[in-house]
Amino acid sequence: MSLREKFLPKTAEGKECVLLCSSTYHMLKADKLLQKEGIQGILVPAPRGIGSACTTAIKFKETDRSRVEELINQYGISWEAIHLLEKKDRKISWTDVYKFSLRENFKNVLRKLEDEVELTKEDIVILLATQDKEEMEALFLAADRVREECVGDEVDVRGVIEFSNFCRKDCLYCGVRKSKKYLPRYRMTEDEIMEQVKNMETMGLRTVALQSGEDPWYTTEKIVTIIKRIRKETQLTVTLSVGERSKEDYERFFEAGSNAYLLKIESANRGLFQTLHPDDDYDLRKKHTIWLRQSGYLVGSGNMVGLPGQTLEHLAEDILFLKEYAIHMVSIGPFLPARGTPFVGQPAGDLFLTLRVIAVARLVCQNIFMPATTAIATLHPKGQTMALTSGTNVIMLIMTPEKLQSGYQIYDNKNSVDLEFAIKSIKESGRKFPAHIRPEYLEMQGLKI
Ligand code: 5AD
Repeated sequence: MSLREKFLPKTAEGKECVLLCSSTYHMLKADKLLQKEGIQGILVPAPRGIGSACTTAIKFKETDRSRVEELINQYGISWEAIHLLEKKDRKISWTDVYKFSLRENFKNVLRKLEDEVELTKEDIVILLATQDKEEMEALFLAADRVREECVGDEVDVRGVIEFSNFCRKDCLYCGVRKSKKYLPRYRMTEDEIMEQVKNMETMGLRTVALQSGEDPWYTTEKIVTIIKRIRKETQLTVTLSVGERSKEDYERFFEAGSNAYLLKIESANRGLFQTLHPDDDYDLRKKHTIWLRQSGYLVGSGNMVGLPGQTLEHLAEDILFLKEYAIHMVSIGPFLPARGTPFVGQPAGDLFLTLRVIAVARLVCQNIFMPATTAIATLHPKGQTMALTSGTNVIMLIMTPEKLQSGYQIYDNKNSVDLEFAIKSIKESGRKFPAHIRPEYLEMQGLKI
């Protein structure tokens, strides 16, 4: 039996399929093609048992299957398989969830999630509002089960290089905002960035996120050159997190070889967004999010929890936004006060509220990549571990050169999450270490997994 026949399950009504291509390049090309042809499809982490944690797949309706096959063949997309998604049996995997003592209304919302019924804003608020220990345990367990079902047990470890702390904007919460004084500003050169990227390759990392303030000094050409060099000289895939750029820039960066872009909404509530971002426009930020999707990227977004003036309703709106915009990578962290900002005296976001937002985001969005953020690791020594058991599946290592790290304090006392710290969190959470990290590197560093 050919590979193709083996993976061609029988058709059935109301079901979903996933398409796997032979490379990320073909995957993204297929995604763009389906978008253009008006076929509903979404990039998702490859489901459990199909590919490794960092490969993506496209999920689409089973009824579109023959059309999808026709198109990808017609446009020369190199594809490996189309799998029919197995119906999940949550009746079994969620049995423990109901062993906790739960109020009726709380249990009803969980039941809705079990049956994949869409939640309303009110439902989400019920989950976020609980202060009850048992209810929280049930919520975190349900999120953990959905995480396991959708992306498996392996934690994907990636690295971020914060290559410039110059910023042209003045977001109220941010420790590298334009008008912050007494902050030595730095910019990394192309060679300095490449050196770190090569170190990452030695470690066995597969994804580098290039992050900076909004710094127009890095022109379109400069960024394109860096992306191209990384793609030519290493095997790493490139994620960008450089703020709002033009639609043309997004397209150019994509063509140059970056395949993911993080641009957080921070708060999906119009009023709160506008208060926090004096230089930004709420509708424009949403438009940028759509442009990124249209350019073919895996799109990242997310919010902060515990911002001054934020309510549970605002947080529910954030989660509904992530769902509505079919965000692929969701980053949720607590707000942390930063020196030299208008929010310096404000209290940090609450650990357990942040975990509840993470859990509900996983339950509502399901097939997403979700990091256990540096911010939650900074808020509490066990924050990263707890996030890993409440729905997250990615850790971002800080790969900014050590001598520059003190300049990228977007909030105070930022945890410099390194491999040792990540190993500890992965172990404590009982999760699987990614197979791609090189054992020789671990040995050289005296690290044990
Ligand atoms: N507290 C927590 N997170 C912050 N970020 C920026 N400033 C703060 C802060 N004071 C987050 C934002 C941004 C990411 C890079 O860091 O969500 O998108």
